[in-house]
Parts: sequence; C-alpha cells; structure tokens
Amino acid sequence: MPIHNYHTAIVTGAANGIGAASVRMLCTAGLNVLSIDKDVDALSKLKDETGCQIMVMDLQKTDQIYERLESYQCDVLINNAGLAHDLSAGFLGATPSQVDEMLTVNVSAAVHVIRALLPSMITRKSGHIIEMGSVASLYALGLPVYSATKGAIHSLSRALRIELNGTKIRHTEICPGRTSTSFFQSAFPDKKARSSFVDQIRNLDPEDIAAAINFALSAPLHVNVSTIELTPVDQAPGARVISK
Ligand SMILES: NC(=O)c1ccc[n+]([C@@H]2O[C@H](COP(=O)([O-])OP(=O)(O)OC[C@H]3O[C@@H](n4cnc5c(N)ncnc54)[C@H](OP(=O)(O)O)[C@@H]3O)[C@@H](O)[C@H]2O)c1
Repeated sequence: MPIHNYHTAIVTGAANGIGAASVRMLCTAGLNVLSIDKDVDALSKLKDETGCQIMVMDLQKTDQIYERLESYQCDVLINNAGLAHDLSAGFLGATPSQVDEMLTVNVSAAVHVIRALLPSMITRKSGHIIEMGSVASLYALGLPVYSATKGAIHSLSRALRIELNGTKIRHTEICPGRTSTSFFQSAFPDKKARSSFVDQIRNLDPEDIAAAINFALSAPLHVNVSTIELTPVDQAPGARVISK
C-alpha cells in the first residue's frame, strides 16, 4: 500500500538485518529505494530480490557521503547503519580502532547523511527522517561506548525536532530492544558467548522494526511520531541481563 506521497527512500546499513527488512517493506509499498551498505554481496542479493537500487559505500568516508548523496532527492531516509564491538569486550577490551568505528558509523555518519540530504527536503518542504536509536540510549545497559553513540542519536533526534519545526519535515527515533540480526556477530565474536546471549529469549525480528517504521511513516501527515521504543516481551525495559 502506498505511503502518502512518498516516492523515494534511502536506507543506510541496508544489506542486512533491520535495514534489509526496511528496504523490503518500502519496496512493497512501491517506493524507489536506494540501499547503501559496504556489504557488496548482500546488497546484490537484496537488489535481485526487491528491485532496489544499490550503492556500495563505507560510511566512515565522510567526503563520499556528501559527494554521492547531496544530489539525491529522497522523501524518506532510514538512517540505520550502526554496530557494536563492546558488548562482550567491554569498555577497555575494545580496541581503539573498534571504538573509533562505533563513534564514526553510529554518530558521525548518521549526522553527515542527514546534512547531505536535508537541504533538498527543506526546499521541497517534505520528507521523513527515521533515526535508528536503541534502548541503549534510554536505559543504562553497561555498554559505555555503544550507549554513548546511541545517546548521541537520542539527543540529536530531540534537537532536530526543534530545528525542523516549521519545515513540514517529520522525524522519528526508533529505539529497538534485542533484535535477531547479524549485529551480534561483531558484538559477540565468540560463537558460544553469542548464542548463549542471543538464544536467551525470543528476540524481536527485523520485520517488527520495519513494521514500526511503517507505522510512523503512515501516520497522518499532520502527526509526528517522535519516538518508538519496542522490546521483546521477555526483555524488561532496556535490561541486558534477563532473569526469569
Ligand atoms: N540488533 C539489535 O538488537 C539492535 C537493537 C537496537 C538498535 N539496533 C540498531 O539497528 C541498526 C541496524 O542494526 P542491525 O541489528 O540490523 O545490524 P546488522 O544486521 O549488522 O546490519 C547493519 C548493517 O550496517 C552495515 N554497516 C556497518 N558499518 C558500515 C559502514 N561503515 N558503511 C556502510 N555500512 C555499514 C553492516 O555491513 P557489514 O555487515 O558489512 O558490517 C550491516 O549490513 C544499528 O544502528 C543498530 O545499532 C540494533
């Protein structure tokens, strides 16, 4: 079913997990979707499956973000790319380059992608930015660097809502709890540790997040759904350690 007069969308971190589910949802709704990721193989498969356009880009390269995106007119931005390294390694266990990658992809790239695409939205007085936050931005989970990056996204979202006031551009922050994706492969490189964490409870599926995005996009155009927090039933607000 079409979503308002939205025709074009850009999804970052589109090749896997929540991003790929979002691409499928948007393509089903009839939007022309540009999927951006650095995972070439998964992007190609997604293109074959959905008919989306693809762009291979490492979002750590700030210059490329502006060079390659500034000319795009997109109605919907799903600013989704992100990762965690410190879930199992901890604050001091993550290497400096892993810390830099989290800060760069989760925060800097998210900011630069918006800055590259926003001028055209402002000119057209239309657009919807979906920001991928996390329950880690709302509750203390004990993941200092990852939480700091998602806390920054939370603050960015709140402040942008003020700055965008009067432009007709809508902005939604989605704060998912644990969702079954490849996110946990970098978060828990050790397979045993990963499966004991991931298999602990019935996690959300990426499609659950895509449905929440669809809800925010489909709300009447005079309605801004500012924040959606969704968790598995068995995950108490934010909690990383689940006791039954
Ligand atoms: N899964 C959860 O429990 C959960 C919960 C709350 C919030 N989130 C957030 O949801 C978002 C999506 O995560 P996900 O769970 O769907 O993880 P995912 O399955 O790992 O998907 C993330 C995608 O982003 C891509 N990516 C990472 N760094 C990139 C870069 N420098 N340039 C371009 N693409 C890059 C990854 O590519 P590669 O595969 O090549 O690395 C991957 O395709 C993230 O912002 C995450 O923080 C996830």
